[in-house]
Amino acid sequence: MRQSSLVVVANRLPVDDSVAPDGACEWRRSPGGLVSALHPLLQHTPATWVGWAGGTGPAPMLADIDGVRMHSVPLARDDVRDHYEGFANSTLWPLYHDAVEQPVYHRRWWEAYQRVNQRFAEAAAEAAEPEAVVWVQDYHLQLVPGLLRAIRPDLRIGFFLHVPFPPPELFMQLPRRAELLRGMLGADLVGFQRAQAAHNFAQLATKVLQLPATDRRIAVGERVVRIGAFPVSIDMTEMEALSGRPDVAQRATRIRRDLGDPQHVILSVDRMDYTKGIEQRLKAYSELLATGHVKVRDTVMVQVAVPSRERVEQYQILRERVEREVGRINGEFGRVGEPAIHYLTQPFDRAELAALYRAADIMAVTPLRDGMNLVAKEYVAARVDDGGALLLSEFAGAAAEFPQAFLVNPHDLEGLKLTLMHALQATPADLNARMRSMREHLRVHDIRAWARSYLTSLDQTGNLVTQLTTT
Ligand code: ADP
Ligand code: G6P
Repeated sequence: MRQSSLVVVANRLPVDDSVAPDGACEWRRSPGGLVSALHPLLQHTPATWVGWAGGTGPAPMLADIDGVRMHSVPLARDDVRDHYEGFANSTLWPLYHDAVEQPVYHRRWWEAYQRVNQRFAEAAAEAAEPEAVVWVQDYHLQLVPGLLRAIRPDLRIGFFLHVPFPPPELFMQLPRRAELLRGMLGADLVGFQRAQAAHNFAQLATKVLQLPATDRRIAVGERVVRIGAFPVSIDMTEMEALSGRPDVAQRATRIRRDLGDPQHVILSVDRMDYTKGIEQRLKAYSELLATGHVKVRDTVMVQVAVPSRERVEQYQILRERVEREVGRINGEFGRVGEPAIHYLTQPFDRAELAALYRAADIMAVTPLRDGMNLVAKEYVAARVDDGGALLLSEFAGAAAEFPQAFLVNPHDLEGLKLTLMHALQATPADLNARMRSMREHLRVHDIRAWARSYLTSLDQTGNLVTQLTTT
């Protein structure tokens, strides 16, 4: 077993297996914010990524990807059902996103959560050199820091939550709330997207575990666990370089032509998830079409919604509802060869995404709740021309960093329609000024700055930080 000085532990490996048109099996980058954030960062760093490769049964042996070792953790059918689809994505995910869907509690799921977390902790312990840094990611693995510390007290352990951490009123619903908090407190540093989340966590540590806590530190016996906000970001340089490529610019022009060269292209790119506010957005658009405020031919909407967590019932229901609504809107407002909405469920490569971003006059990112929302940042990074408008939900983490966006409350249908119209009618000078200042912010607060601030706080030797952020 090869060991590394940096081990990232995440439920998902950065790759998915897929079948190419010629029938060959190939691995491609999996969609989702966590992978998008960490993948560019670790390239060419001697690190190990411990995670699940997406299937069931024995773990596949994967070759290194861009110098990163892939250590796959096997999940059996029951583990996937009860840990991934169950406790992680039917209990924690909805609860942490303001319970916009009803969280479901089953005792059997909790047993699977413990069992799978134990397996990940053991895999991380195997992969880590003595005194290595182990960086545990996200809500699927909240028990890992505590379990890992019990096996390997020599390690420096970090935990980062990519999704929101809810206020005590919601978190208190969880039947196993004390264990989950204790698990996270096994880390030396617990990072969140926003200061409010760190505050919620500190309050809960006191309320549930009676621990002395501030928004920066929690005393756990002899140990001090540091906590804080570290808003995640993207690889601005990579997205800018992609978007600036002549073939990508040509592809963007081609996309607009294929859309009928309308005056306005409105784009949304989401995982098919009920947190993303897809239905609310479609409703707003449909009402604007009905009242004649926007007209097919002048304005075209492109909704990319890549299917996600497809065996979970709430996701199946959402997909059916979205597809029914897209069909209804196209039936009612489209014309032959001119649909009102172009609806795509395919995963795209990064160059195609960059071309879509360049082709879009308005990027509508209107989640009901989102830890960060990297799509919003990708759009800003891709606008090397300083053009385009970002319509952004107040409930996305990114809103705290982009006050220059067209901010909306996605629950307020009239507000959503008005702000969309405002963005459609904004002058180029206004749009340029807004985009320039968002781009300036992003240039400073990119993925390397995120890693630097988190790892400087975690690994006080400074070695890792230098290694990771100078590549
Ligand atoms: P979440 O973390 O909930 O998935 P984010 O907006 O933070 O949401 O991140 C989504 C990531 O997935 C982005 O990096 C985005 O580019 C990627 N993505 C979304 N849709 C697709 C798609 N159809 N094909 C490829 N990547 C996608
Ligand atoms: C969000 C979560 C990630 C997750 C991703 C994709 O970004 O924070 O942990 O990997 O969604 O979801 P999936 O269920 O496909 O891993």
